[in-house]
Amino acid sequence: MTARLLPAWTADDGAHRAADLFGATFGAAPEGVWSAPGRVNLIGEHTDYNGGLCLPVALPHRTFVALRPREDRTVRLVSAQESGTRSVSLDDVGPGTVEGWPAYVVGVAWALVAEGLASRDRAVGFDVAVDSCVPYGAGLSSSAALESAVAIALDDVWGLGLGADDAGRSRLAAACVRAENEVAGAPTGGMDQSASLRAQERHALLLDCRDGGTRQLPFDLAPVGLELLVIDTRAPHALVDGQYAERRDSCEAAARQLGVATLREVTDLQGALSALDDPVVRRRVRHVVTEIERVARFAELLQGGPLDAERVAGLGALMAGSHVSMRDDYEISCAELDLAVDTATAVGAHGARMTGGGFGGSAIALLPAGSADRVAREVTDAFAAAGFARPAFLLSPASAPAAAVSATSG
Ligand code: GLA
Repeated sequence: MTARLLPAWTADDGAHRAADLFGATFGAAPEGVWSAPGRVNLIGEHTDYNGGLCLPVALPHRTFVALRPREDRTVRLVSAQESGTRSVSLDDVGPGTVEGWPAYVVGVAWALVAEGLASRDRAVGFDVAVDSCVPYGAGLSSSAALESAVAIALDDVWGLGLGADDAGRSRLAAACVRAENEVAGAPTGGMDQSASLRAQERHALLLDCRDGGTRQLPFDLAPVGLELLVIDTRAPHALVDGQYAERRDSCEAAARQLGVATLREVTDLQGALSALDDPVVRRRVRHVVTEIERVARFAELLQGGPLDAERVAGLGALMAGSHVSMRDDYEISCAELDLAVDTATAVGAHGARMTGGGFGGSAIALLPAGSADRVAREVTDAFAAAGFARPAFLLSPASAPAAAVSATSG
């Protein structure tokens, strides 16, 4: 069977789509178009809310927002992915007050003020049109891409000046996390927004969630004969359901029981495991602590020199270990993810693992350059044979962070 490969839009294409939707809806030109990428995490899953390490890259697939500030406190929103136009007053935004996708947009406006990054006077309303080629519900952070695109747009039109350097971008990311946690109500950790705002082209972002520190690690695959395939399993997944929150609560409870601020502070894994009675909690802790170690070793391999065969084998082994840990200890994989990982590995991937929150969503495979089509076909066939939905695929060179696409004169 042929494989379904989802191409990324060019900047021009995305900007035109968003600006055209804006014009058709609001009868005027936007002040500009801004865009932000989805992300894929190379390794380090469910470590962010444990103060740990993770290593995402920005996807070439982006969300585009065409936006124009208003003089009042109204936000009017339209999305190519949803029908109808919505209208929300910024005065009505707060925890639990906005339903559906607009919460991610007005939540960011609310959080920029709540975080003290914008004064209430600057925080005028706006009209916004959204279009995106980040697959939705695929565990590739379509919501963080939307938040980050809105954050970088409001940074410009409200004149905040935070997007110019990494320190400012980390504050924008914090506001996006607050929007997601408090206004949209998803208790996520913060990796996704940092990736979308702070990752660099041809680099993976080593994010230390203990202090928000970052390092840009070289991750330029084509020159070393590699490529990264993302396998969107199309298995249903939702972060607002109880499973993600349950994992987070159980880690926080374990940290309290062990007398540490977060599981990052566990230095003696065996000692910690023997201090915990519940076998399920022990497995959760073992995943988090060993996963943080795997990120550190993966980062060392990326930094230590050119990606020769030995280093690539090392990366692959760490990816395989990460998947097994998520499958058996953290119990966040599913049949589709396991089949994607096993098939990709059997047909020549150097390494493969599920990525993102789990319970569905996507897997990644590190491949010899030029083999993505063949691997994608094999995975598509295996899914058909198992009676699963038809998967989709993306190629993901490490891409650029949130930025303005164009500034048209209104
Ligand atoms: C989701 C969350 C992130 C992170 C990952 C798992 O993507 O949004 O904060 O916890 O799951 O690593």
